[in-house]
This record gives sequence, structure tokens and C-alpha cells, in this order.
Amino acid sequence: MKVLVLNGVNLNMLGVRDPEHYGTLTLPELDAHVRDAAAGLQIDVDFAQTNIEGEYVELIQRARGSVDALVLNPGAWTHYAWAIHDALEASGLPAVEVHLSDVMAREPWRRQSVIRELCIATVSGKGADGYAEALMKLRDHLSGR
Ligand code: DQA
Repeated sequence: MKVLVLNGVNLNMLGVRDPEHYGTLTLPELDAHVRDAAAGLQIDVDFAQTNIEGEYVELIQRARGSVDALVLNPGAWTHYAWAIHDALEASGLPAVEVHLSDVMAREPWRRQSVIRELCIATVSGKGADGYAEALMKLRDHLSGR
């Protein structure tokens, strides 16, 4: 089973950016944490991050046929970027939406998600462990559990 973890806009700033909401891990440290969790679950995992919405869309498009599932944290695009919704829908891939912070407990504009309805689950407010939880959910989904 192969999963692509796609982090979006401003997530390259982890470690510097608002540690109260996003924790202290840098993005490479977060990826290493998720890679360890994936190894324990026998999941092959790839990572990408971009600050360019069109690139994020292309990464989702290209994932079709090359991975079994997606873990998506689009950052602020989550709340308004309908092109990402459409790309995910067209990909037909199972996906889990992840947010490091508890988006439902923050500003009202963060409560909207353009991808939630397409995802098998949303994991929010669990920091880096949320990505590992997302992998477990995808493994269970793909193995029919
Ligand atoms: C985020 C939550 C978003 O509202 C925010 O814009 C981010 C990060 C999270 O991981 O908690 O950039 O997706």
C-alpha cells in the first residue's frame, strides 16, 4: 500500500509558525515522524509540500495511478480552494483530511472544508500523530475493515 502525504500552503513554515497551534516540529521532522509510523504499519509513504495551489492540484492529479490513497493537509486552501475539491474528486482516490490544529475550535472561517465531503475521515487537533491516525484509517479502509 502506497500513500502520498500532501502538505499545502505555509506548512513549510512549521517549527517557526504559531507553535501553540501547530507544535514545534519542522516539516522535515514531521515527515520523519510520519515515515516511522508508516513503517510500523507497513505502508510505503511519499511526501510533498507546495505553496502553489496549481502544483497541489497537479500532485493530486498525478497521484492517480501511482498511489493507493492520499493524506491531505491543504492548509488555508482547505477553507476555500474548490479546485482542490475538484482535483480530489477526479482522482477517485480515498483520502483523509488532516489538520494539526483543532480547526473547529478556532476562527469560524476555518470550519469550512472544501474536501471534507470527499474524504473518508477528518483528523484535526492531534498534531503530528494525526497523520499516523490518517494512515491507519486508510489502511483499514483499503483492507475493507
Ligand atoms: C491547518 C489549519 C488551517 O486552518 C491553517 O490555515 C493551516 C494549517 C492545520 O494543519 O491545522 O495552514 O491546516
